[in-house]
Amino acid sequence: MSSNSSPSHEWWRTAVIYQVYPRSFADSSGNGIGDLPGVTSRLDHLAALGVDAVWLSPFYRSPQNDAGYDVSDYCDVDPMFGTLADADALIARAHHLGLRVIFDIVPNHSSSEHVWFQEALAAGPGSPERDHYIFREGRGPNGAEPPNNWQSTFGGPAWTRITEADGTPGPWYLHLFDTTQPDFDWTNPWVADRFDEVLRFWLDRGIDGFRIDVAHGLAKSPGLPDVDTDPMLIGGGWTTEEHPYWSRDDVHAIWRRWRHVTEEYDGDRALVAEAWVLPLSKMAQWVRDDELHQAFNFGYLMTPWDAKDMRAVIDDSLESFGTVGAPSTWVLSNHDTIRHTTRLSTKAPLAHNIGIGPQSLDRPDEAHSIARGRAATLLMLALPGSAYVYQGEELGLPEAIDIPDDARQDPTFFHTPAGVYGRDGCRVPLPWESDAPAYGFSPTGASWLPQPASWARYAADSQRGVAGSTLEMYREALKLRRERSLAHGTLGWNESDSDVLDFTVSGVRVVSNMSDDPVALPSGDRLLASGPVGESLPPDTTVWLAI
Ligand code: NOJ
Repeated sequence: MSSNSSPSHEWWRTAVIYQVYPRSFADSSGNGIGDLPGVTSRLDHLAALGVDAVWLSPFYRSPQNDAGYDVSDYCDVDPMFGTLADADALIARAHHLGLRVIFDIVPNHSSSEHVWFQEALAAGPGSPERDHYIFREGRGPNGAEPPNNWQSTFGGPAWTRITEADGTPGPWYLHLFDTTQPDFDWTNPWVADRFDEVLRFWLDRGIDGFRIDVAHGLAKSPGLPDVDTDPMLIGGGWTTEEHPYWSRDDVHAIWRRWRHVTEEYDGDRALVAEAWVLPLSKMAQWVRDDELHQAFNFGYLMTPWDAKDMRAVIDDSLESFGTVGAPSTWVLSNHDTIRHTTRLSTKAPLAHNIGIGPQSLDRPDEAHSIARGRAATLLMLALPGSAYVYQGEELGLPEAIDIPDDARQDPTFFHTPAGVYGRDGCRVPLPWESDAPAYGFSPTGASWLPQPASWARYAADSQRGVAGSTLEMYREALKLRRERSLAHGTLGWNESDSDVLDFTVSGVRVVSNMSDDPVALPSGDRLLASGPVGESLPPDTTVWLAI
C-alpha cells in the first residue's frame, strides 16, 4: 500500500472511510446503473480527496428488491455490477492508491431467490433446510393470521405465508425487511458456518473489512413473542426498551465469532456495525475488544443542529466508546438518510428514512442548508476518532426532493402511507462533469434515478481547484486533519456561548456557530472555515484556528 492510508496497526481507529453506493457512483456500461469498473475508474477522485478507505454497499448477486441488500449469492458479483474479476481489479487499484477496502455483508436476511431459501421451500415442512430460516405456523383459524404482531421495517406485517408444493397453505416466514428478504435463523449453527465461509471468501481476496448490515437484529427472542411497545419506528431499530428482535444480548456471540475469523488473517481487518442502538453506552457493547472494531454513531447522525444536543452527543460518544477502548465514529449522511445538507435544516426532526419529497412542507432553502451542511462537516472532521463520508457529500449535494412518484424505487415508498418518500433522494447518481450526459455518471446519459436539472453546479469538475468550493473544503479539511493528527487528539471544551461549540483538539481550536447571530471570533491563525468569516463568526459557520 502507498500514500494516503497509514499502514500502521489499527488504521481504523482514525480512518476517514468513504461510502460508495455502487448503483449511483459511476456507470461504465451505459445502462444507467453504476458498476464496479465505474467505481474503479473513479478511485483517483477518492485518493485525491484524501480519504483512507472506501466502503462499498452491496454489489452481490441480487434481484435488487432492496437495492442489493437482498442478496441471492454472497460470493458472486451481480452481472449488473460486473464480475468477480472486476471486484479483484477494484481491490487491487484501491490498494495501489493507498485506499483500504471494506465490503458490505448482509447476514440478517438473504434474498428469497437465494438457493438456501429456495431449498428451504422445496424441502418441505420439518426438513433441516426449513430451519435455516424462521418459519412458523400462523395464528387463528387455519393459521391464517401471522404468527405474531411484528411489523416489517418497510411497512406491513413482517411475515409472509407460503404455499406448499401440494397447493396447501403453509407456514409463514419472518422478514424484518421486504417480503423478499427472509430472516436467517441464527440459532442454527449451519447459518453461522455458511457466513464464516462468506467472510473467508472475501478476506482471502484481500479486503480490509466488512460493514455489517443490521448488526443489532440477528438474535430474536425465543418464542418470538408479540412486541408490546410501539413495534418499530420506520427505519428500524431505535429502541431503548428490551425488544424481541432489536439489540438482544445473544447477538454478541456472533460478533465474537466473526472477530476470531478476521483475526485468522494477516493485516488489520476491521468489522463495522450498522447497529441502530441507543443509548450509546449500549451501542458500545458492539465494539468491546473481542467483538467488532467500530459501530456507526447513529446517535450523532440523528442529532439536530443544536449546540447543547451536539455537545451532549459528542461527550456521550467519547465517553461511551472510550469506556470499552473503541474509537468513536462520526457520520452525517448515508444511503438510508436524508443528506445532511438538507436534513440539518429541516424544521422538524425526520426519522431517518422517511425522506422528503415533492409534497413535503418542510423544504429547507438550498443556500442556507448548504452553509449549514458545510459547517456540520468541518465540525465532524475535527472530532477525534474515525469519520464516514457518504458519496456526494464532498460535492455538497443536497437531497434530491422532486423525484416523481413513478421514478421512485425504494420499497419503503410503496409500502408506507403517503408522505413517506423513503431513501431515493439520497441515492441519486453523482454529477461528475457539468457538461456531459447524466453529468458524466453514465456515457449514455442514462440514470436509474433522475438527476435534478440544477446539479451541474455541484459536478466535481465545477469544483475541482476552485477555492472555497465544497470539494476543496473537504480536501483541505482531510489534509489538515491528517497533518495535525486531529483524529488522534483529545478534545477539550472551551468556554463559550450556549449556542456555540468551541473546543480544542491537537492544537486546533474549532468553533461552530449554531446561533442565529454572529459571534466573536477567538484569536488564532485561521486554518480553514466553512464559509466567509470576517471579524466575527457568522451563523452556520465553523472555523478551525491554529493556537
Ligand atoms: C440497512 C441498509 O443500510 C438498508 O439500506 C437496508 O434496506 C436494510 N439494512 C436492510 O438490509
